[in-house]
Amino acid sequence: MDRRSLPLVLAFGSILQGCPWIGGCGSFERTEVVSLSQEDLDDLVVQGRLQARRAVAVDTDTDTDADTDTAADTDTDTDAAADTDTDSAVDTDTDALDTDGVQPPLVDPTGLSCQEICAAWFDWTEVLDCRGATPDAGDLLAVECTVDDYCIGGRLHEVVTTPTRAIGPDATARRLAQMAHDEWASVAAFEALATELRTHGAPADLIRRVLAAAADEVRHARDVAALAHARGGVVPRLQTQAPTARTLEAIAKENVEEAIVVETWSALRAHVQARMATDPAIRAVMQGIADDETRHAELARDLDRWLRSRLDAAANARLDAVKADAIEALRQQLATQALPDETGFVLGEPSPEQAAVLLEGLAASVWRA
Ligand SMILES: [Fe+2]
Ligand SMILES: [Fe+2]
Repeated sequence: MDRRSLPLVLAFGSILQGCPWIGGCGSFERTEVVSLSQEDLDDLVVQGRLQARRAVAVDTDTDTDADTDTAADTDTDTDAAADTDTDSAVDTDTDALDTDGVQPPLVDPTGLSCQEICAAWFDWTEVLDCRGATPDAGDLLAVECTVDDYCIGGRLHEVVTTPTRAIGPDATARRLAQMAHDEWASVAAFEALATELRTHGAPADLIRRVLAAAADEVRHARDVAALAHARGGVVPRLQTQAPTARTLEAIAKENVEEAIVVETWSALRAHVQARMATDPAIRAVMQGIADDETRHAELARDLDRWLRSRLDAAANARLDAVKADAIEALRQQLATQALPDETGFVLGEPSPEQAAVLLEGLAASVWRA
């Protein structure tokens, strides 16, 4: 398998393995105590990281004993959970730890096992060991997880003409609002691209994938806009112009700049954000975006192959130069555009130094061909 055909999901995994700052990325063992409030558990359910497991637990209860099922529901959702927190399960754990140092079995008022909670909290990791721990004051439960971490990370078009910048009460809200706009721009970009590809007789499968990507971008735009609105951000209204008839080389040039370079970088960055964002709602949205954008970046590579196959050697050489320039432009942009620290943490965006490492990884394993 040559490097160009290495699936991006594997290439990204390889790149991120060298980045221990990404929440334990790489393949290495670590042990961490996780103290969870009811709100934290609810967040995990909202993100879908606990939902399936909880559903299994409820189903089992229903199958065996309806009364137990009802009790579990009440316990998890309302007062019973708080009662357990204050006087039974958690205290029992604490006492046992204090008196004899022997780790007690986890007594979990949610009915979830220690393994399940660790797996949900440390998404994308293998849980090697797990035991009960002492919760922080006011929390519902705590677990000590030993995990072996691993992990794998917009496209524009000439029709997009939006001149305005996002507005919002702080840098995070503005950044999210701009991101939402850029997702809408990607919808327009893919739709316009599909029309152009049809005109140029592109394979039906490529066009189908472009239209599927447009549908993905609608979902991204809505999800990110919801995050922006929740923080008071105002998404700029997308403005577009009528498409012009373009040559295959013009389309290929844009695909190189916007997709082979920028969208691929965005896909890798999204995987980082899915792990690093301190806001759980943002992590959840970025996980979905990361998977979709990885697929879009693969589409960009397939599109690049088809377009290059229709162009002569001189045009292909020009595309190579465009790619080198685009990579360099991105490198300079990332080196100079640092977000405020707080915004970077909330969104999980890599710092300029971290971005430089990631970019080198892309240059070595994805953009090299
Ligand atoms: Fe997107
Ligand atoms: Fe995309």
